[in-house]
Amino acid sequence: MRRIMQDRFGGPEVLELREAEEPHAGPGEVRIRVESAALNPVDWKIFTGPGAERRGLVPPMGVGNDIAGTIDEVGDGVDGWVVGDRVFGSARTRALQDFTTVAPGRERLARIPDGLDAGVAASLVVAGRTAWDGVEQLLDRGGETIFINGAAGGVGQLAVQLAERKGARVIGSASERNADFLRSLGAEPVAYGDGLAERLEAMLPVDACFDCHGADGIAAALEVGVPIERCIAIAAKGAHGARGVAGDLERTGALDELARLAASGDLLVPVEARYPLERFREAYEHLMDGHVRGKLVIDLA
Ligand SMILES: NC(=O)c1ccc[n+]([C@@H]2O[C@H](COP(=O)([O-])OP(=O)(O)OC[C@H]3O[C@@H](n4cnc5c(N)ncnc54)[C@H](OP(=O)(O)O)[C@@H]3O)[C@@H](O)[C@H]2O)c1
Repeated sequence: MRRIMQDRFGGPEVLELREAEEPHAGPGEVRIRVESAALNPVDWKIFTGPGAERRGLVPPMGVGNDIAGTIDEVGDGVDGWVVGDRVFGSARTRALQDFTTVAPGRERLARIPDGLDAGVAASLVVAGRTAWDGVEQLLDRGGETIFINGAAGGVGQLAVQLAERKGARVIGSASERNADFLRSLGAEPVAYGDGLAERLEAMLPVDACFDCHGADGIAAALEVGVPIERCIAIAAKGAHGARGVAGDLERTGALDELARLAASGDLLVPVEARYPLERFREAYEHLMDGHVRGKLVIDLA
């Protein structure tokens, strides 16, 4: 099978497309024929080194996390999953390959509802559950205003819509290129960069801040009076004392609900570009440029 692999840390140039032995489902595992994989910044934070060291990951290893496809083998001791199930979930460092194994007891796995595209389902794994948890933690009643920094990216675009579903007014930061995109999702756009706090000041009230880009959004939110308890930072963890999202969301059923909303058209999951596996390097260069609108997907089947 084809597999993207790395023998050392570095930029996309250290990633290689290789022929590798197919994995098989061991006890407690299922094997998935991967149709699509969605990309996340954590992929490159791992393949460049810093994110790997934190997680104890050492090359040689594969790449990526978010996958969607069809179960074609079920190992001993697995209940509730059968050959032919269309699924999406997490396969850390084992996503950009034709077949992968997932242990449903330990790793996230959910069913793809009828009619939902595999690339869209894969796009929900990390970005969807992160947006879900951030919004759940920050908004407990309707009628409040949330400021989402980096609102046009993979997490941000979903957080905008989930916050609106909870009855919030949403202010989202983006570049000028994405202002209309945010308007189309129902958010009020604001430009990031110098003067952000002054621009937010003119848009008060702001009750909560979900920073999906760095620490600047938190700093601006604090300046306009948002209490730190109502701030979450996911890209610059701990920025100004803000908390992050929870890590154990597989138990919340968030993926099932996100997939249901996406399949019914109640949650849009814009994908800016799709690449065949052979163009993995170009796809990661696009992601690392830092200005993706929505998600990037790699199609394998
Ligand atoms: N569990 C976790 O803690 C967790 C989970 C998921 C993600 N994350 C982290 O959260 C961050 C966002 O993830 P993502 O998947 O949403 O990334 P992404 O899709 O790559 O985000 C791209 C977006 O960032 C925006 N952006 C670029 N420069 C900006 C700036 N100076 N200020 C505000 N926004 C800016 C871009 O908007 P324009 O194109 O308009 O410039 C673009 O839409 C990453 O660092 C990721 O690693 C953490």
